[in-house]
Amino acid sequence: MTTLAEARAELLGRTTRSQAIADERAEILNSGLAANLEMPHPIFIERGEGAYVWDADGNRYIDTSVGFGLHMLGHRHPEIEAAIKARSELGWMFGIHTTSQMKLAALLHEASPCAERVVFCNSGTEATMYAIRAARGFSGREKIALFDGAYHGAHDWGMWVTDPSSPRDVPGKLPMGRGIPRALADLVMLLPYRNPAAFNHIRANAGELALVMVEGVQSSNPQPGAGEFLRELAAVCRASGVLFAIDEVITGFRVAYGGAQQRFGVTPDLATYGKVLGGGLPIGAVTGRADLMEVFTGLGARNGIFSGGTFSGNPLTMEAGAAAVGHLKAHPEIYPRLDAAGDRLADAVNGFCQARQIPAQMKNVGSMFHMFFQRAPLESMRDVTAANTAAEKAFYLHALNRGVLVPGTQRAFLSAAHGPAEVDRLIEVFQASLADVQAEGLFA
Ligand SMILES: Cc1ncc(COP(=O)(O)O)c(C=O)c1O
Repeated sequence: MTTLAEARAELLGRTTRSQAIADERAEILNSGLAANLEMPHPIFIERGEGAYVWDADGNRYIDTSVGFGLHMLGHRHPEIEAAIKARSELGWMFGIHTTSQMKLAALLHEASPCAERVVFCNSGTEATMYAIRAARGFSGREKIALFDGAYHGAHDWGMWVTDPSSPRDVPGKLPMGRGIPRALADLVMLLPYRNPAAFNHIRANAGELALVMVEGVQSSNPQPGAGEFLRELAAVCRASGVLFAIDEVITGFRVAYGGAQQRFGVTPDLATYGKVLGGGLPIGAVTGRADLMEVFTGLGARNGIFSGGTFSGNPLTMEAGAAAVGHLKAHPEIYPRLDAAGDRLADAVNGFCQARQIPAQMKNVGSMFHMFFQRAPLESMRDVTAANTAAEKAFYLHALNRGVLVPGTQRAFLSAAHGPAEVDRLIEVFQASLADVQAEGLFA
């Protein structure tokens, strides 16, 4: 058994360069770094290859962040690297249209079930912001509805979290930090996730709602049953005359080649993309019904909205994305293999927790997974308790010390580069780390 203090001391001894970078950084850079463990400093990554990353001190880790979910093929995939190199030799940024856009547009058009038209932007945040604007422009309505526990990016429209004191069926909302105008609150409704009360709210507010947006699978709470709720939600929106968008920024090209739409058999009016679509470079995209997407044709168009951006559709991203998506299209066997790997990991961790009476569980939908430190069932983020925060932080520190990196957001992923040996090692490390936390009596 390793105690938490021993694990921390080992990790500190091996990461002195990261410590020096952290000290230097604190003088200049204000941005916070999300952490799921308690260390005097974070580790800084220098390079990545396949399923692995190396930190500034040269320590190797199995990476379960894979760029916050975007490296579906692992780090430095040779086809993506070759595409980036080839494009860079021709110049990489022109602003005006290039010959590189059509390849990726055609791939996305074919892969996304709702995509009669495609618009590129530069991040998932931009994509959901544009989808909201498009729905408002098209419908002439201003209110939108999002779900309890969702994340759709950093723009003001998405910065609302559930007020924990509000009733389950009628979630109240609080701004996520300061700087979000209170006036916007009246235009955003929060709906309860995986709860039929949401359908009644949509029906009751149908005349005012421009859009209902939902993640294909909530990354904060990946539930195997996400599809049933999605299908019913789509039907309620359709019957109520409210536009419906699936945010596929994480699920697109991950839970299936055609994303949550394909996996769960549901076609929304709009879908938003990012992450995997860009092959590791910044990207966002909106796809949808042709009549609705017409709003993007410009301010002169019927119901036209403004969209645009210096880097939108830039050739380097387009080529990297086309290489990544093209590879996924040519290798459909990746998806069942990754689904089985994700299930094997979750089954092994959950079986271990049950056998040892450890109050923890892993939730997964295929290759996206998330650990929760409680035994109680989790329908939505409302059910997550903070009772085992100390155990949770200790677990992630033990895992890091054993060479497994789980991102501070706790949203973890496998990539096609994670083979059976990496999954075996993840199981070993997670089980050993849970056992250490239990042996030290850190679970409540
Ligand atoms: C479902 C979802 N939508 C939107 C975003 C925002 O994407 P980006 O970070 O590229 O702005 C994220 C980011 O994690 C996401 O998970």
